Formats: sequence, structure tokens, C-alpha cells
Amino acid sequence: MRTYQRTSAMTVTVTIVALLALVFIGWRLASRRQSLPCPVWLRWLVELDNPFTKTNRALEILSHLDLHPGMSVLDMGCGPGRLTLPAAAQVGSEGLVLAVDIQAGMLSRVKEKEKAARAGLNTIQTLQAGAGDGKLGNSRFDRALLVTVLGEIPDCETALRELYTALKPGGLLSVTEVIFDPHFQRQTTVRNIAQRCGFREQALFGNRIAYTLLFRKQPGIPEDPATRQNL
Ligand SMILES: C[S@@+](CC[C@H](N)C(=O)[O-])C[C@H]1O[C@@H](n2cnc3c(N)ncnc32)[C@H](O)[C@@H]1O
Repeated sequence: MRTYQRTSAMTVTVTIVALLALVFIGWRLASRRQSLPCPVWLRWLVELDNPFTKTNRALEILSHLDLHPGMSVLDMGCGPGRLTLPAAAQVGSEGLVLAVDIQAGMLSRVKEKEKAARAGLNTIQTLQAGAGDGKLGNSRFDRALLVTVLGEIPDCETALRELYTALKPGGLLSVTEVIFDPHFQRQTTVRNIAQRCGFREQALFGNRIAYTLLFRKQPGIPEDPATRQNL
């Protein structure tokens, strides 16, 4: 009887793992053809800091950004606000965190959490928009975050150009990618796009399968790529 119970428990576990692996592979293949945003019903999963990847933990990512009270931070593809809230706590009530996401369901969770934590004190603003939509303005932010988002954006280059323009001269862009994400982007891909948009690489944290790349918008360099090329 006990052997039977053990065997059926093992069968159920193996079936669940196999199903999850199939979903992951299917999603990964589908996302190569079409950019699919992470569904809102999965936001509970995005909200958790992955125990296996230190590189992708919210406080680890923020620790590389030298955040100070009063700074302005852009959290592009903020999801349910895993980084938005700790960033808001670090920039304080004189700072600003603009949480941008293409899905309203993600932003409503950010607002819920801000209300529950009472951490924001008007520090957090939300904006429903797609990356590259041109709604961010010029030279507004000290820091920009792009955490496991790039692969979901249909036109990454337009999106990074927008972030370049939205950052203040000398501002930092932090791009984090982890292999567990079905939309994982390799370092070379990220570097190539960032460089074409004018960013200078500043630092690399982590390894090939879980990393944060830090880029700087150079002070005193023209925003327009055509002018930059003629320098
Ligand atoms: C995997 S989640 C990551 C959320 C958050 N950055 C984090 O690390 O916890 C990706 C998020 O990017 C958003 N997203 C996808 N495509 C987008 C786009 N084109 N513009 C802005 N946000 C987008 C999704 O709605 C989703 O909330």
C-alpha cells in the first residue's frame, strides 16, 4: 500500500515538473516569434525574489545603483512593483519613482502595495505605456531599471533610445536578465543594442545566465545618433 502511495506521489510530481517544463519551452519558443508580455495572472510569481538567483533579487539590483534620497528612478516594465517599492523607500519622499508597465493589472498591484506599505508618500507615480511609446520626456531620471523586460518589448532599440533620452546626462541604466525567464536576452544582444543607442558600459554583475549590465549615458554627448557619429 505504502509503495503504491509513494509511486503515485512520484508520478504526480514528475507529471507536474514535465508540464511546467513544457509550458516554459512552449512559451520560450512562442516568444521568439512574438513578444508576449508576462500575463497578469502570473504576477504573484514575478513578485517573488527568486531564491536561486541572487543577481535578480530586488535589493541586490538596487545595491549597484548608488541610490540617494531625492533621486528620480524609472522602473520600466515594473510588473507588480518588486523593485518599485524598495526603490521608493531608498529615494524617500523627496524622490520619485515612475513605475511604467504596458498592463494595467500590474500597475494596480503596485498601487495596492504602496497603499498597504504607506511607503510612497507620493514618491511613486504610475504610467500605463509601452516602452518606446515616447511618453517619458527628456533628461528626467537619474536611474532607469529594465529588469527581465527587454525580451518582451517588440522594438528593443526604440525602447532603449527612449530610455537614453529620458535619463539625465551621467544617469545609469540597469538591465537584468536571468535564464529562468522565457524571454531571456544574452549579454551580447543587450550590449549591441545599448551601444547603438549611445550608452557606455559601466559594469557587469553576475554571470552568463544571470546578470546585471550597467550602462551610463555619457555627459555632454549629443542625444541624436547622427550627430554623435560625426564627432
Ligand atoms: C517578467 S515581468 C518583470 C517585472 C519586474 N521588472 C520585475 O523584475 O519584478 C515583465 C513586465 O514587463 C511588462 N512589459 C512587457 N512588455 C512591455 C512593454 N512593451 N512596455 C512596458 N512594459 C512591458 C509586462 O507587463 C511585465 O509586467
